[in-house]
Amino acid sequence: MTSHWESTYAATTAAERSWTEESPSTSLEWIRASGIAKDARIADIGGGASRLVDELVGEGFTRISVVDLSASALAEAQARVGGQATFIESDLFAFTPSSLLGLWHDRAVLHFLSDPSERAAYVDHVAASVEVGGSVVIACFALTGPEQCSQIPVTRASAQDLVQLFGRRFQLAQSATVVHLTPWGKSQPFTWVRFTRLEVQPDVSSAQAKGHRQEEVPTPKS
Ligand SMILES: C[S@@+](CC[C@H](N)C(=O)[O-])C[C@H]1O[C@@H](n2cnc3c(N)ncnc32)[C@H](O)[C@@H]1O
Repeated sequence: MTSHWESTYAATTAAERSWTEESPSTSLEWIRASGIAKDARIADIGGGASRLVDELVGEGFTRISVVDLSASALAEAQARVGGQATFIESDLFAFTPSSLLGLWHDRAVLHFLSDPSERAAYVDHVAASVEVGGSVVIACFALTGPEQCSQIPVTRASAQDLVQLFGRRFQLAQSATVVHLTPWGKSQPFTWVRFTRLEVQPDVSSAQAKGHRQEEVPTPKS
């Protein structure tokens, strides 16, 4: 997977990538709507060469990390903003923030995870990475969106699907369908959701569903 993304970024310009946005306006509006402080930790997961980091730096955010598999993508973004953000070449699952995040942003990355166990692991990873009260902004192809992105099959989702996937540890704060226009003018409907991370104890039924062993209760002898 790393080689796919590395060769894709190395072989294309921003105008040749379907996901390129001239201005990441929905991300910015929703990050502002979260009310996050300028010094809170933000991670743009699978941020690639997106201009979101430029805009966040411009708005005065001081603790931004961009995490991506592709060194070429990160180098493109870093060439624009230099040391005003941290660029981390890593798989998202291997990215463990040194302190909990105030905001997790993912545009067009979760939809590459198709296996239900991978999607559940993604949610667990978000829950472990974001502080209680923190925010999660996710965008993935909507049910009417394309079946592939960068020639890779995707799992499309509605806001309701994402609410169900994220479960009790996250409360929906905002959702919408927003149509992205590729640089060559093709429409791609995206589902956007914003969640707030809640303080919730794990429940027995979800532990059972994941195949965890339940504690055995001794049967009283008569
Ligand atoms: C469709 S692009 C979206 C890029 C960016 N979020 C944007 O909106 O412009 C998907 C990005 O996710 C990155 N990616 C895919 N799988 C990843 C993973 N498991 N961990 C980290 N990055 C990943 C790719 O390298 C690529 O930059």
